[in-house]
Amino acid sequence: MALLQADTIPLSLYIHMPWCVRKCPYCDFNSHAAGNIEEEAYIDALLQDFDGELELPGVRNRGITSIFIGGGTPSLFSADAIKRLLSGIAQRAVCGAAEVTLEANPGSADSSKFAGYREAGVNRLSIGIQSFDDAKLAVLGRIHNRETAMQAIEKARIAGFDNLNLDLMYGLPEQSEDEAMLDLQQAISFQPEHLSWYQLTLEPNTPFHHSPPAGLADNDQLADLSARGIEQLQQAGYSQYEVSAYAQPGKACRHNLNYWQFGDYLGIGAGAHAKITLKDGTIVRRHKQRHPQRYLASVTAADALSSSRVLTEDDLRLEFMMSALRLNAGFRQQDYELRTGLAFSSIEETLGEQVKKGLLERSGDSWRASESGRLHLDSLLLDFS
Ligand SMILES: C[S@@+](CC[C@H](N)C(=O)[O-])C[C@H]1O[C@@H](n2cnc3c(N)ncnc32)[C@H](O)[C@@H]1O
Ligand code: SF4
Repeated sequence: MALLQADTIPLSLYIHMPWCVRKCPYCDFNSHAAGNIEEEAYIDALLQDFDGELELPGVRNRGITSIFIGGGTPSLFSADAIKRLLSGIAQRAVCGAAEVTLEANPGSADSSKFAGYREAGVNRLSIGIQSFDDAKLAVLGRIHNRETAMQAIEKARIAGFDNLNLDLMYGLPEQSEDEAMLDLQQAISFQPEHLSWYQLTLEPNTPFHHSPPAGLADNDQLADLSARGIEQLQQAGYSQYEVSAYAQPGKACRHNLNYWQFGDYLGIGAGAHAKITLKDGTIVRRHKQRHPQRYLASVTAADALSSSRVLTEDDLRLEFMMSALRLNAGFRQQDYELRTGLAFSSIEETLGEQVKKGLLERSGDSWRASESGRLHLDSLLLDFS
């Protein structure tokens, strides 16, 4: 394996806020119904956790290109808390020109809070709309309705956010194709710079998985709907750059792009995970304690890490492909070598076979999943495992 140059690999920072007002029945994120959020203590813990990450060999002097405050519901935190967090990070690391995203729930949005986030250094807001239909929002167990969803978008614009993402889901219980398209049209009418359009999935260990709601679409219906949606998004000036991500020109999410391009990211907060190339060229995956109370208790004992593992060549080959083939643009030969440190010859033959099967497309030194490859991504990836 060639020695990787860690400082040439973009470095992002993910920050996890693990609380929500209540748990949505389809959600398997590490989020917990909030009683009383220990805001001060959690921000202290995050900064302490970050100090620990910076001790990793070769990390301290690398600039941070993007920060993503995700959850859970980060917008449950006050603007002052987010300000203390972001200024604490800026005191410890170089992150001047970073894209800084915060996830907000319309049910916990108010104008002065949004303005405070903007002042604190958040320059991209991601609002979890899911649907503009009150009946669908109720089935999803959301804490907001159509009116509050629309108000949240307006409040974000008034607060000065000029880089906005809306999360929307389709394939909802009892949702007709026309209803899903109407949701999409309404989202587009606000002209967000970015749209994440997710197909509802029944994640294991969620109430929706244990007892699936009635009226879910079948695979053929979902494929038709997805094709119609992509067309509508394209006509409105959004290009798809990843399975569920659509952006106006130049507005792709830098943070998520870095994940899919197999860049590095630090992870702080309960259950956060990280992928980091160390000074000696090894690549490690690290996970923090998942449960918020255990995390809070352990981070003060400087022991927030629940696991850390050096990736093997087999892991790297598979994990690179799992990320890169989600992107419409795929990857170039040199990306593979620069991110994994592995010789391209180790996958060249397999790539050629996939092209013959029609699952991959090659253009010069770039490789991407074909339309059929996208539909059979799991079996395509098996060949790299
Ligand atoms: C961490 S959540 C976003 C922030 C906030 N907690 C919220 O829900 O508004 C990220 C997004 O993932 C999507 N999502 C969550 N669970 C999903 C599921 N089971 N199927 C499809 N999309 C899902 C939703 O669109 C959600 O907004
Ligand atoms: S608000 Fe978001 S993170 Fe929280 S439970 Fe619902 S989907 Fe999950």
